[in-house]
Parts: sequence; structure tokens; C-alpha cells
Amino acid sequence: MEHPEYADVVETALAKLDLDAKARLLAGQDLWSLPALPEIGLGSLVMSDGPVGVRGASWDPGDPSLVLPSPTALAATWDPDLARRAGQVLAQEARRKGVHVLLAPTINLHRSPRGGRHFESYSEDPLLTARIGAAYVAGVQDGGVGATVKHFVANDAETDRFTVDNRVGARALRELYLAPFEQIIADARPWLLMSAYNSVNGSTMTENRDLQIGVLRQEWGYDGVVVSDWLAARDTVRAITGGLDVAMPGPTTVFGPRLAAAVRDGRVAESVVDDAVRHVLLLAARVGLLAGAEPAVPTSRLPAPLDTETIAREIATGSMVLVRNTDQILPLDPAALSRVALIGRAARDARILGGGSATVYPARVTSPLDGLRAALPDGVALTYAMGADPDNELDVPRDGFTLRTVLRDADGDILADAPLPFGRVRWMSTDLPGGADFDALDSVEITGTYTPHESGTHHFGVSGPGPFRLVVAGAVLLPGTEPQPGGDVLNAVLGNRYTAGGAAELEAGRPVEISLTNLRPKGDFGLIRGVAFALGHRAPDRDDDALIAEAVAAATGADTAVVVVATTERVESEGFDRASLRLPGRQDDLVAAVAAANPRTVVVVNAGAPVEMPWRADVAAVLLTWFPGQEGGAALADVLLGAAEPGGRLPTTWPSHLADAPVSEVTPTDGVLAYDEGPFIGYRAWQRAGTEPAFPFGYGLGYTTWEYEDIEVAGDTVHVRIRNTGIRSGREVVQVYVAPADSSADAPDRPERQLAGFATVTAGPGASVEASITIAERAFQIWDEGANAWATIPGGYRVEVGHSVTDLAMTTRVEVAGH
Ligand code: BGC
Repeated sequence: MEHPEYADVVETALAKLDLDAKARLLAGQDLWSLPALPEIGLGSLVMSDGPVGVRGASWDPGDPSLVLPSPTALAATWDPDLARRAGQVLAQEARRKGVHVLLAPTINLHRSPRGGRHFESYSEDPLLTARIGAAYVAGVQDGGVGATVKHFVANDAETDRFTVDNRVGARALRELYLAPFEQIIADARPWLLMSAYNSVNGSTMTENRDLQIGVLRQEWGYDGVVVSDWLAARDTVRAITGGLDVAMPGPTTVFGPRLAAAVRDGRVAESVVDDAVRHVLLLAARVGLLAGAEPAVPTSRLPAPLDTETIAREIATGSMVLVRNTDQILPLDPAALSRVALIGRAARDARILGGGSATVYPARVTSPLDGLRAALPDGVALTYAMGADPDNELDVPRDGFTLRTVLRDADGDILADAPLPFGRVRWMSTDLPGGADFDALDSVEITGTYTPHESGTHHFGVSGPGPFRLVVAGAVLLPGTEPQPGGDVLNAVLGNRYTAGGAAELEAGRPVEISLTNLRPKGDFGLIRGVAFALGHRAPDRDDDALIAEAVAAATGADTAVVVVATTERVESEGFDRASLRLPGRQDDLVAAVAAANPRTVVVVNAGAPVEMPWRADVAAVLLTWFPGQEGGAALADVLLGAAEPGGRLPTTWPSHLADAPVSEVTPTDGVLAYDEGPFIGYRAWQRAGTEPAFPFGYGLGYTTWEYEDIEVAGDTVHVRIRNTGIRSGREVVQVYVAPADSSADAPDRPERQLAGFATVTAGPGASVEASITIAERAFQIWDEGANAWATIPGGYRVEVGHSVTDLAMTTRVEVAGH
């Protein structure tokens, strides 16, 4: 073991464990934790998602968490120092919630803009991903909490994620998908890594010996724990011998008693189990759960308490990317305003994070409406109009519902009757409310009253497998005869896919009875038994034409119209990919109508991933805010009114149309998704195709202008001097690209250029500042498939610096010798 300080304590603890205890330690005891082993002074290790907050062991709004901006936003800051602070804040949250391991960061790549979890990973570029990811991991672990880099590897889309076999050539695997894992392990030494659901080149990742042992342990010297993605481990022997240490979640997994049996049968050597246990004991020592071991960060060395909300706001302003600003309409001058129209559903009901396992529940949210109202001077009239509703889908019941759940046996006798605050049942074990007996359970009813706010046609539906009987106000909407279409098993748990049940005409203020009974409630979620389903509801549709007309009326004559457009949880979440990049609902029509009514229209795009913006040339300004976290509305007001500069630069190319994206396929054919584009994704692919995106990688405007004055390369460092030529202080992200300059016939096929380093600098008006940036050696290398090693390609290279991959202000040339 590489950790002499822990070697003795780990070996001593290991020697005291019998086979059953060792096997038990490698299996979840429930959804989020490993068992305690009091006989060796080992506490129970608790893990939690991740990445924008720390949800804790409960999966409900009753236990709120701080919500930071989405990972795409963090990457858009291009600021590892901010990413480190984000990690430190999350470690503080984890400690507050009794969590030892954060299940983040997600460092898969933006291979296709259709990826459903695009918002949850950083970038299309491995270097930017690695720099932000390493800083985040370092920040989390500064606080004595384990970080988990995930999902190893090539989990870049969601379609058929449990079964898809991603066929990835060695070059693409090394140069793109493995690269952030390799770099983060080298730079930040994460204490855990999560093994993905998918297969790579024919072997499911939890059993992929070549990658989990050959590359990860033997080549890279990784010393942490390899934990399965939730329900990803399928086979006891293949998983343990393929390099998996811990199978999650529990209580039933392929490890535990099955692993002990496999050792007893002679199918697995006990020494293999011992190695996995050593990894877990080392982790336990690091986080302070193993008696006799000093934690990696003793209490005396923990960072001083951080002001979480201030950091959330700072990251949000630093991440916002201004992609259009005609006639410097932004920042708005508060003193010159008398009436501002704020438009959009998401301006009021802020969309602060993406869906799926990344969901955490904030204690409070500052919406754009709250943020602007607080920041605008008293004399400025702020009018709000919803515009068009982006979300006309069923959702979990919210205001107006008072619900409980009733559990019954086959004779209809009640086993338990418990309150259900959120209209969703999620019991991921056989421990049922009120101690009800799982074996005796025959049906589960969600029942109670609903008092509508609005009169009209209300839609109801269900999420989960069923069959269901649904009765609303005495009318039977579902008879209980048909099971619902299934899909990804975790969708039932996440509850983000609803199917329609039927509609009822209801009157505002008049309560009605609701009853949804799941007639076959016991689900098998992989090896786990439990119950997961939900009631869905949608309030009456409002007429979008009328809503758009209201918005146009509000915008007409206002000094400025600010339209917030957004995606929804049905668009950006986990378990499925995006069918299109269009904004949902009639939001494109809304923007076009408002822009026609007011030339000073500013569009705020509240989405975690690229969307098409067919109106972008017709509006005065476009600001991308990502999913900005709970302080997003305050940060937006800071940026719109000039208290802060929009600091972000695109971490990923934004296409004009999905059809232009050189790589977009996410649907496997016969179970296989071929990464045929090789090492050409993102800007590497756009530059090769010669097509123009809407906005290139690295792009973003600030509130000042810069001139690049000097470039000089000394050794592996490029020194760049730039001057702020505007009238405000500002921040520039200086980007360094490396481009092969001489293309000889036998040169390998390489990207036209690639990001080789970056730095952020600030300077006052008129001042100049120097950035010194180390050029990554990998920019001169390829993975040589024949030699199975990195090879430096000798020759001339241009070292280019500038504002984005297509806006390069200065160039110099270097010669590289091969070795
Ligand atoms: C996700 C992981 C997550 C885990 C636990 C899985 O479905 O892919 O990212 O950490 O669930 O919630």
C-alpha cells in the first residue's frame, strides 16, 4: 500500500475480519451506506449525490441542501479556484449532513448535445473537464470528505444506459474519455471512482478488467475505492475479479453473502476480496471512520466555515455567458430605467438545477423576479408576464394536495396508514412505513384531497409500473387492468416520466377526493425489492396565444424586456436523452413576438445544455445562465445591472441546429453505439467539418474589451500580455491552443487545434496584465495504438492565444522534437 501512515492500521483491521464480515463490507446495507463493523472500530460510511449539493440520506424536500450552479456552469467559469471553493462548500454541507462521500463530480464528456445529463458534466474538452474536475475534487477532499469521479467510462449519453455497448477506439478512449479520469487521479487523487452502467468494447464497466485493473490500478496507480453505479453490478465473480470493490445500493447486492459463498466455492480467491477490503478500509481511515487512524484532514485543519450563499452567487455570476450584446445594451443602467418587463415562466418559477439523481432540495430560491425586484431602484416599475408555458406535462403534485398512503394486504386489511407529503412513494427496501410486513403487502394507495387553484380541465397520471386504479372526484380514470409501460428501472425511482391517466373538470376552491392504487406495488429494482411510484398532475392549460399577447403588452413601451426561456425537467434529466434542442412549448414564438414589440429585448437562456435559438439575430442581447443554483436570480440581477460582469465562456460548442452538430447520435443499433468519429468531438469535429456553430467553444463577451499585446514561449510556458482597452474593470479567460503547423503526408490524423491551457486574469481600465500558462504536453501527443503508449509527434506547431477557439489574437511557433 502506498500509504505508510495507514498501512498498519488497515492491515491490522483486515486481519481481524472473517470472510463474512469482509464480504459484507463490500455491499451497501441500504440505499446510501456501508455497514459498520464495531468489532474493528469501523463506523458506517454514508454516500450521497452530488454534484450541485449534498442531498443526504433522505430523498425529499424535508431535508434541504444548498444548491450550487450546475456543472456546465462551473465549467463555464473556466476558473479552477472557484471550482475548488465549490468543492469546499460541498464538503461543509456533507459534514453538516453526516455524509462521508460525495457522489460527484461527473466527468463524462459532451459527446452529443442530445445527452440528457449534459448539464451534469463539464465540457466537450478533456483538458477543461480535468482542470475543473481536479479542483472540485481537491476542494471536497480539503474538507475531509471523499469525492467520487464518475462514471468510469464513456457514459456520455443515457439511452439504454444499462445495456449499451459503447464501441470506442483506443485513441478516442485515451485522448478524450479516459483523459479527465487520468489527469484528475494524477492531480487530485480522488478517494473514489464510480463504475458506469454501460459496456465499453464488449465488457460491462463493473466487470471491465482491462480498464478497471489494467489501466486504472496498474497504469495509473489508483489507490481509491471503485464503487458501482447504483444497480450496475450484475455478477459476483466477474465484478470482483473485474476490479469492482463495492456494490451499491443494498441491502441485496452481488457482494455480501454471495461473495462469501463464491470464495467458499473456490470461484474467487480470498486475496481478491482482501484487496477490495483494503481499499474500503483506506477510505474509512481517510474520512475518519476507522478507530486508530487519524483522518486525512484532522478537525484542526478543516477550512474555516464558508459563506455558502455568497459563493453560490459568485459562481453563478462567474458562469453566465453573454453571447450577444448589440450596442452594449447590457449592462442596463439602473438610473436610466423607468419600466422593465420581465417575461417567462422560469423568471418566476426559477429552474435552478437539472433532474435525476443530481436533484437536491433548496431551503429557498431567489428567482429572477425576486432578484430583479430586490436590485432595481424603487422608482423602476417591474411588470411580470408568464408569456408561454414551457411545461405542459404531468408533474409531481404540488400546492393544494393533502395526501397520505394506505398499505393493504390481500384481504384489504390495512397494514399501515401514513402521511405522504410529496405525492410520491419511494421505499427502496422492504422496510415499509408503520412497520408493515413487506411479504403481506398487496396494494398501496395514495389518497387524500385536492383543492384546485384554477377551474378547468385538470390532467392526472402516474409514474411507475402499476397496474393502477385512479379515481378523481368519483370518476374512474384508470381501471387498474393495464400495467404502465416500464422503461429504465431507475425512472420509476426517480419518478421523472409520467404516463397520462385521464382528465377531470374541477372548480377552483372546491376540494375533491383523489385515490391512486397500485395493485402490484412490489418492484424488483435489480436486486433490490421495494415500492416506487407517483401520482402526476397538470393544472389546466392556459391559452398560449393569450399569454403571448399579455407578454407583448407588458413589453410594449418598457425600457427593456427581459425574457427568460428555459428547458424543463422533462427535457434535461437522467435516464433519457433529448429528442431535439428546441425550447419546449411556444417559447420561440414568445421571444419572436416580444422582440418584434420591443427592440431592447434581452433573452436569458436558463438551460443546462445547448438549445436552438432561431431568434438570436433579432434580439438585442442573449445571456446564457445555465442552471444557476439557488442564488441564480440574485446573480442574474448583478449581471443585468452591471454589479458584476458575466464571467463565463462556453465550455461546449453551441450549434445553430441539432442537424449541424457533427456528432449527435445517442441511440444504439442492436445494442451498440459506435463512436465512429474517433477523437473528433466538439470543436475538434466542428473544425474538421468546416461548419459554423451558433457560438464556438470558449466564446463569451464581457463588459470590457481586450487587446492581446505580446506572446512569448519559454520552455513549456507561454507568457501572454493583454490590455484592458475598455472603461470598466474586467476579467478575461486567456485560452491557449496548439495547432500542428506542418502537415506531412505521414503525420497522423489530428485535430486542427486543441486547448492546451488557460488562465483567468483581471485588470482595470487601461491596465495591462500578464498571464503565464503551462502548455500541456498532451497537446503534442497522440495515443499510438500500435505501441499502446503516448507518442509525441515531432515538428512545428503554432501556439495560439485568444478569446475562443475561432478568435485567436496572437500566434507564435514552436518546434517539438519527438521522443
Ligand atoms: C446515477 C449516479 C448516482 C447514483 C446514485 C445513478 O442512477 O447514474 O450518478 O450517483 O444513481 O443516486
